[in-house]
Amino acid sequence: MWCFSLQRRCLHSSLGLMKKLKSKTPAEQRWLQRQLKDPYVKASHAQHFRCRSAFKLLEIDDKFRLLQPGRIVVDCGAAPGAWSQVAVRRVNSDRTDPALPLGTVVGIDLLNIPPLDGAHFLSSHDVTDPATHAKLLELLPGGRADVILSDMAPNASGVREMDHEKLIVTCLSLADLAERVLQPGGSLVCKYWDGILARKLQEKLSSVFGHVQTLKPNASRKESAERYFLARMYRK
Ligand SMILES: C[S@@+](CC[C@H](N)C(=O)[O-])C[C@H]1O[C@@H](n2cnc3c(N)ncnc32)[C@H](O)[C@@H]1O
Repeated sequence: MWCFSLQRRCLHSSLGLMKKLKSKTPAEQRWLQRQLKDPYVKASHAQHFRCRSAFKLLEIDDKFRLLQPGRIVVDCGAAPGAWSQVAVRRVNSDRTDPALPLGTVVGIDLLNIPPLDGAHFLSSHDVTDPATHAKLLELLPGGRADVILSDMAPNASGVREMDHEKLIVTCLSLADLAERVLQPGGSLVCKYWDGILARKLQEKLSSVFGHVQTLKPNASRKESAERYFLARMYRK
């Protein structure tokens, strides 16, 4: 489980990984070796992203242009903050370009999210908790968001069906969040682990969004059950 918990926290220091390599079990060593060879891990260091997951969102956004200057974004499961970094750059919430409209990024996570210029973070907050929705509303200009991102993932037990179900239940709660904050016409990007309940989530999203599709970005490891739903044209 050690490697999974590291993965979740997107540990990104190659040097640190090298040092740790010697003292680990064979399975842990294999995981660390994979990290060291991974081109997205290397690129995330070079581009100062907090973890490789940034490239999944960059790929999705390059194709669908969800994160435009001036947009208001909620990033669910934001720690350590790589998706928020992407969102800040793209919606101009750090005023990098004063000539462009100023966006807003609010990130939420059960864990601590290190501060980031241009983003507001609700650390130690549960996205599924209505009390979090109330706090979020106060941080959103006009109480509204254009885009909800969710890269949330529960602590993996290693039992595939159980982890799948847990994540689907978490994702289903995003429909409540959307009802509270998402603008009509807004979009949602939502990570899930594929399995029998994925259809249920897709149906739920299709009941409130005009268009729902499944994405598997190149940066998402091929052997992983990870997929994303992109839901667009929210119907209030
Ligand atoms: C894969 S990480 C997200 C990585 C992030 N997108 C990034 O680029 O830095 C998944 C995160 O989801 C968070 N999470 C899981 N369930 C959550 C919940 N109910 N509320 C808030 N955060 C949650 C976990 O704490 C974890 O930090």
